[in-house]
Amino acid sequence: MINVAILGYGTVGSGVYKIINENNTHISRRAGDEVKVKYVLDLRDFPGDPVEEVLVHDVDIIMEDDEVDVVVEVMGGVEPAYTFVKRALDRGKSACTSNKELVAKHGAELLQIARENNVNFFFEASVGGGIPIIRPLIECLTVDHIEEIQGIMNGTTNYILTKMEDEGADFDTVLKDAQDKGYAERNPEADIEGYDACRKIAILTSLAYEKQVDFEDIYTEGITKITTDDFDYMKKIGASIKLLGIARKDVGITYSMVAPFVVYSDNPLYNVKDVFNAILVKGDMLGDVMFYGKGAGSLPTASAVVSDVVDAVKRQGYTAKIYWNDEKRILGGVDAFTTPYFVRVKPNADEDMDALKARVENIFGSVEYISLDSKQDEIAFITKVLSGSEFEQAAEGFDVVSRIRVSK
Ligand code: HSE
Repeated sequence: MINVAILGYGTVGSGVYKIINENNTHISRRAGDEVKVKYVLDLRDFPGDPVEEVLVHDVDIIMEDDEVDVVVEVMGGVEPAYTFVKRALDRGKSACTSNKELVAKHGAELLQIARENNVNFFFEASVGGGIPIIRPLIECLTVDHIEEIQGIMNGTTNYILTKMEDEGADFDTVLKDAQDKGYAERNPEADIEGYDACRKIAILTSLAYEKQVDFEDIYTEGITKITTDDFDYMKKIGASIKLLGIARKDVGITYSMVAPFVVYSDNPLYNVKDVFNAILVKGDMLGDVMFYGKGAGSLPTASAVVSDVVDAVKRQGYTAKIYWNDEKRILGGVDAFTTPYFVRVKPNADEDMDALKARVENIFGSVEYISLDSKQDEIAFITKVLSGSEFEQAAEGFDVVSRIRVSK
């Protein structure tokens, strides 16, 4: 018998409880032992909910019970999740979490503590919700050098961008609609400013390149400056705009960033719409492989968490090898990150459109123009590949309406 304790009976925790109970025979067969929820920890009471039978309010009951084999942490936030997970690992219990803040900040350290205690620390649901991406990265893509990861890892922003693109509604209107429908948080900052995606790409970059990437070092730009005019230009060239988390190794330098990118229709991420997430991994031998599915929600996320529980049961007695050490990875700066840019500029006061065009070509060299009948008062174009600092230098003196990196 494997006893599981769930820390937190919120959206994900209630999903974990439901899945372990409803699919119990299947899960137990796959785990090779009967899996049972012995405790659920929450500060609240849930009168009338069957969870009452296993509900506790004191974490000590769980930590001090040697019959608990696996602790599932689904509370979110760094504290007290960090203290509880550390304590569980130190008590010889495996821990599984969906908590991206916890994993991004303390992943390497918690993996080390798990190794010292001969148990496992798993976090499949921390990136891409229900999409298997962590296990494929560490178990399957072991042969390839990862050249790049491009991920749509935030459902809220992908939903907003999709509505702006498909319905021509502006950012504020779509955000309000998304909040009214419960898709976006009342305080949407973590999503729309890219902070949520930043934690997730920090985890993937650390795993892909094996050293600790601090999320504070990751250049992060959200979607608040994207307009419906930008999408009008995209339609003209058969492209879209997506908020991407990028991890890249380029001439020995590791880059990690979050920003809106122009994505052309030949990129499989182009078709990832609404709240769906997808992660495209480019291996030097395998080529492109994409993982697609639901990046949030109770049951999809809980499904990934319970898959970790099954894995932890199967690996009882030894720690899975996960290459992510706590040595800090120094990232290449955004000034050195190379990419083409989509740019819209307006003429200066003393300039006509011909003069502006001449100046664009003089400074940026040959560019690919995109013209819209509805936009005669500006010039839009795509540059050749430039580093961030080359772009900033070139853009100086231009009245830039919009500039968005273009996915290579
Ligand atoms: N707020 C996140 C999203 C939830 O919109 O994708 C999953 O981390």
